[in-house]
Amino acid sequence: MATTRNIPEYDRKSELKAFDDSKSGVKGLLDGGMTKIPLMFIHPRYNPDAKSESAVSQFRVPLIDLDGVKDNATVRAKIIDQVRGACENWGFFQVVNHGIPASVLEEMIDGIRGFHEQDTQMKKEFYTRDFKDKVSFVSNFDLFEATAATWKDSLSWPMVPNPPDPTEFPAVCRDIVTEYSKQVKRLGYTLFELLSEGLGLHVNHLKDTGCAEVIFHVGHYYPPCPEPELTLGASRHADSGFLTVLLQDQVGGLQVLHQNQWIDLVPMPGALVINVGFSLQVITNDRFKSIEHRVLANRVSSRVSMASAFGTTLFPSSKLYSPIKELLTQENPPKYKEATLQAHVAYLRGKRV
Ligand code: OGA
Ligand code: NI
Repeated sequence: MATTRNIPEYDRKSELKAFDDSKSGVKGLLDGGMTKIPLMFIHPRYNPDAKSESAVSQFRVPLIDLDGVKDNATVRAKIIDQVRGACENWGFFQVVNHGIPASVLEEMIDGIRGFHEQDTQMKKEFYTRDFKDKVSFVSNFDLFEATAATWKDSLSWPMVPNPPDPTEFPAVCRDIVTEYSKQVKRLGYTLFELLSEGLGLHVNHLKDTGCAEVIFHVGHYYPPCPEPELTLGASRHADSGFLTVLLQDQVGGLQVLHQNQWIDLVPMPGALVINVGFSLQVITNDRFKSIEHRVLANRVSSRVSMASAFGTTLFPSSKLYSPIKELLTQENPPKYKEATLQAHVAYLRGKRV
């Protein structure tokens, strides 16, 4: 059960500005020896001690083995069924044997950790809220809009269609960024093919609809938190794009809202987490569900994750979307009118609140 916390009066605007101006993120606060979290990070309605918010549950996010998906028709048909079921019932699943070598996953995690744990002066050069066509280091994309800040810093970059020049990437992760991006793009294509077939559409339908036209990467760093029960690593939200591929380290903390319970998404070595975004929910006429998730803060260790968003409404586009015609019947009329993804997502977000 959520409770409401009383937060003392403070000059929130000035605190946010001072924090942003420091260009050092949450990690910078800790490096400075901070032992109590600043008021701007306190989430007034979050109380993880309440038992109903702890994630002891009989539910498990589906785990799907992609082994044989390209070379065995029977196996492929079974995988397609599993993927479709997961998108309809969970909006989330994990995949193993996805074709990205374990060494690439490890190096990507190490690269993101390496960036965030390097000397603050080096990081400051990348600090900017202008993330659209640049490599950007920032803490809390929505710092000035959200009701409470979250306990994380992020390094982001657009990869498709306009990637930054390789020399613009931080030296500690430059090489692995290129390799990981290439591999994750291929996996994304495979997933859109499976999803298309799962919907009874031509194998290329979702790719041709533009689902992989934009790929945006975010490498998150969640520093250890001295007061984890007062804040969150990531507030509850649903992703705005079509599909997100998430690589996480083994620390844990990601939770998915399923049947009104927060379920731990337990990390598994070599696995990748896949989740449906609002845009895919719209074009499948609510058949695939975009599910809310959050990340808990923890006292003991830092956590690293790397999200690759296929589609995002961070980059406004005038392209219009409506539910895919082939999926509509008299019994299943369109639930959405033709509109930009920004408009669809704003509408869906509004409905959830
Ligand atoms: C996100 C997200 C979860 C995580 O980037 O949208 O939900 O584990 N990340 O970092
Ligand atoms: Ni998310």
